[in-house]
Amino acid sequence: MSGAAKLTTKDGRGIIIRDGKAADGVGIVNIYRTVGAEKIHITLEDYPFHEYTESRFIKALLKSGSYLAVAEHEKRIVGYCRLERHLAPKREHTAEIAMAILKDYRNIGIGTALTKAGIEWAKTTDLHKLHLSVFATNTAAIALYKKLAFVEEGRRKEQICIDGQYIDEILMGFYLRDKLTREQGNKE
Ligand SMILES: CC(C)(COP(=O)(O)OP(=O)(O)OC[C@H]1O[C@@H](n2cnc3c(N)ncnc32)[C@H](O)[C@@H]1OP(=O)(O)O)[C@@H](O)C(=O)NCCC(=O)NCCS
Repeated sequence: MSGAAKLTTKDGRGIIIRDGKAADGVGIVNIYRTVGAEKIHITLEDYPFHEYTESRFIKALLKSGSYLAVAEHEKRIVGYCRLERHLAPKREHTAEIAMAILKDYRNIGIGTALTKAGIEWAKTTDLHKLHLSVFATNTAAIALYKKLAFVEEGRRKEQICIDGQYIDEILMGFYLRDKLTREQGNKE
């Protein structure tokens, strides 16, 4: 997407879904810290960087062809979806997705809206593929990605350990041009 859109959530809250910017670093660090402290969905538990460092990182990301969408409620960042384009030539047709929503704002459609915003933006670029990894126990995230046509591409067995329990890491991909378009492209 480009710009901003209003989302009325399943429980009636008015959320702004918009392009992210460097100043959103403060809100995003808060999300990393609170979601990390839950210790079940993402790898990082104690986010090591300061808000200022995060803002500089976002600035550099946006400058190098990556994208950030944020969800804002009452002037507070409650969720984000980042598409980080790889910079190495052999991977620069791909971007990795990272996303998190504050606990009180989950399951009301924000993650879906943010991911759709990311896909919409990616379709305006020369990116070919989006990818991500998700813990096999994260059923909500997997349901969301499958709903939006991400496909499972691999599984790293027992790659994650939470409280002594080994969990598989699932690799998923989303192809920005459908199969038919790709086949036609290969013939040209
Ligand atoms: C994963 C996450 C980003 C999803 O965002 P969200 O705003 O809650 O997602 P949505 O509400 O748009 O959609 C969630 C979907 O999962 C479904 N879902 C929720 N819990 C589920 C479960 N336990 N099993 C199966 N499906 C489930 C919901 O019904 C919904 O699908 P629907 O729209 O078809 O009804 C959010 O849960 C989150 O931030 N989790 C913590 C961080 C994280 O896991 N990040 C992703 C790492 S890959």
